[in-house]
Amino acid sequence: MAWRWTKLTSAFPDCAYFVSIIRIEWPPPNYSLPPIVHIGPYLLRNNVFVAPMAGVTDRPFRQLCKELGAGYAVSEMAASNPKLWQTEKSSRRINHVGEMEPKAVQIAGADPTMLADCAKFNVERGAQIIDINMGCPVKKVCSSWCGSALLQDEKLVGRILDAVVAAVGVPVTLKFRTGWDRSNKNALTIAKMAESAGIAMLTLHGRTRADGYSGAAEYDTITAVKAAVSIPVVANGDITSPEKARFVLDTTGADAVMIGRAAQGRPWIFREIDHFLRTGSHLPAPLVAEVQPLMTAHLRAHYAFYGDYLGVRTARKHIGWYVRGLPGAEIFRQRMNRIESIEAQLDALNTFFEVQLAYGKRLQYSLCEQALAA
Ligand SMILES: Cc1cc2nc3c(=O)[nH]c(=O)nc-3n(C[C@H](O)[C@H](O)[C@H](O)COP(=O)(O)O)c2cc1C
Repeated sequence: MAWRWTKLTSAFPDCAYFVSIIRIEWPPPNYSLPPIVHIGPYLLRNNVFVAPMAGVTDRPFRQLCKELGAGYAVSEMAASNPKLWQTEKSSRRINHVGEMEPKAVQIAGADPTMLADCAKFNVERGAQIIDINMGCPVKKVCSSWCGSALLQDEKLVGRILDAVVAAVGVPVTLKFRTGWDRSNKNALTIAKMAESAGIAMLTLHGRTRADGYSGAAEYDTITAVKAAVSIPVVANGDITSPEKARFVLDTTGADAVMIGRAAQGRPWIFREIDHFLRTGSHLPAPLVAEVQPLMTAHLRAHYAFYGDYLGVRTARKHIGWYVRGLPGAEIFRQRMNRIESIEAQLDALNTFFEVQLAYGKRLQYSLCEQALAA
């Protein structure tokens, strides 16, 4: 580039300013290679992760996200109470057959011994990483004093971290929130305790337990945590686009971003963000012709995982998310929710996407957004 610039400026002196602008823009300063993230011995493919979401990131969906560019995925939380391990729901949650490695299992509970036993149980069944959930605010979890409710009792947090790390020979990670409420943000204390206990990676959702999902996630606490520890830190909360991912990585210094709700129905968001972080340019929206077989394969895996009856019913939420924002989605969703057989559900979905071709070869989310804005 320098050679070309010298040649051009001496041949065309008037163009020096123009050429120097080109020179300043190349290589693009912001788009350095993303950091390499390790969890213990596992080198992750990239630094764009899918968040654990109970009832959403089951094995078929995690697998799909990984195939479409997510560098890492954690299972939905598994209960630490051994009485629940044999239930159908728990068995499904700890089923990792065929899943791309590393296989990470999230555990939730409040009793250090039970959590340690649960971690061992999952490692014996193939888990390669154990993630402790101290991030979930939902009542069912918090009423039995676990998830983010634990952040209120730092001593108990310490005992849990020590017990789980000592129980297993695989890396243990922690997912947590910034604190109990906005006057009690103790993420920094918890992060330092976790690092001393031997936790291999931290994921921090930029909200307190009391915030639930309301308000906007804040990233100052994530910045402070990243500056205070030397283990990898993953930033989570309200990351919905490639630009937002870039912004959060730049402002917090975090090693990776974790995406939850924005991946519902748009699992290709991982490759879009990864591509943008590496190159600074956007991938085009997916082709309808690509999305159709991809969704069909996802839903077939979903039916096989849950069985026909439950599969058709639980697939509805994924279908609703797939069509959200596309022309004709609302009417389609109402009709689709009454369909009770696998083949009819797939036929309806494929017909919906064939109609999308009338709007263009690629998915046209913007048409609906423009209509709503008008
Ligand atoms: C439906 C749903 C289920 C969730 N289940 C879990 C869970 O099992 N474990 C967990 O640590 N977090 C869970 N979360 C929280 C997400 O992992 C994530 O921290 C949160 O949604 C914020 O990220 P986002 O703004 O990208 O969605 C759940 C979130 C949602 C919306």
